[in-house]
Amino acid sequence: KKRIVSGVQPTGTIHLGNYLGAIKNWISLQTTYDTLFFIVDLHAITLPYDTQQLSKATRDTAAIYLACGVDTSKASVFVQSHVRAHVELMWLLSSATPIGWLNRMIQFKEKSRKAGDENVGVALLTYPVLMASDILLYQSDFVPVGEDQKQHLELTRELAERVNYLYGRRKWKKLGGRGGPIFKVPEPLIPPAGARVMSLTDGLSKMSKSAPSDQSRINLLDPKDVIANKIKRCKTDSFSGMEFDNPDRPECSNLLSIYQVISGKMKEEVALECQDMNWGMFKALLTDALIDHLHPIQVRYEDIMSDPAYLDKVLAEGATKATDIADATLNNVYQAMGFLRR
Ligand code: TYM
Repeated sequence: KKRIVSGVQPTGTIHLGNYLGAIKNWISLQTTYDTLFFIVDLHAITLPYDTQQLSKATRDTAAIYLACGVDTSKASVFVQSHVRAHVELMWLLSSATPIGWLNRMIQFKEKSRKAGDENVGVALLTYPVLMASDILLYQSDFVPVGEDQKQHLELTRELAERVNYLYGRRKWKKLGGRGGPIFKVPEPLIPPAGARVMSLTDGLSKMSKSAPSDQSRINLLDPKDVIANKIKRCKTDSFSGMEFDNPDRPECSNLLSIYQVISGKMKEEVALECQDMNWGMFKALLTDALIDHLHPIQVRYEDIMSDPAYLDKVLAEGATKATDIADATLNNVYQAMGFLRR
């Protein structure tokens, strides 16, 4: 079976962008592929954070994975920091990562500009190396993510190729010319719709956990009336009818895409269904679709959270399975890089 890995940071609340760009797609992949889904708590400390909240947010995120349909009889779910190999491989990879590659990362530039010098730790710069290690440790074939992670995936691929080039041969020689490269070179899986969900209050900026206004996003755990209120107050325009891909109507296109993915319909079908609607009618349609889709997830979330022992067990089992795979890769890398065996 080909392997898939992906993860979400336990910062803030999980929103519709995280769901449509990533988590929703994990669900359809878990039957065909060998899947590992982690909660990237080590990534969550790259910007100032609240130590009182981290462990709670980590459990919440795990519960949301399960509530969204991640099936632990098929997929492994675990916490990144519970598998020590992630940080260890990161150090080894760091030595093969040119600083220039990291300086070029759009997310680093954006986040460091927003955070201000005092708050920019070295880890914000080296963040993509940790992400590469999350992926390469498992010899992953595919990584389902939203559009904003594309550049990090590209760096992961380049880094895998570089390490294979720099250290791969030494290992092959030792094995008498047999054996393959150290890392598999993974590919991103970016969905055709929902890969870049935009803010409800500005169709030109991405829906994000860190945006100051909660009105800008739909959180997966928002109650019905909050969802209805957010859609009611979201930004609109004064055109008539609803249409996709009009550059003058980013909000319209964004909300239609959300409706498309949530309803499971084809783009053409949605375009036809909504072309003659006014904003009021469309908003009512979208609100109902969102509430219908999210309600069962919320019920399952409450159910999972009511049994902490179950969640602990899932995470412990996930970490054990992941550690086996990760340690094998890590040992290979140590060997290929010439370390003394212990
Ligand atoms: P994070 O936590 O910012 O986001 C988690 C996932 O949600 C996607 N996403 C979006 N998709 C569509 N529209 C949006 N507005 C939107 N906002 C976020 C992201 O693309 C992502 O797929 N570095 C990663 C986490 C990570 C990871 C990994 C992912 C760490 N190691 C290894 C895959 C494999 C991050 O910060 O995602």
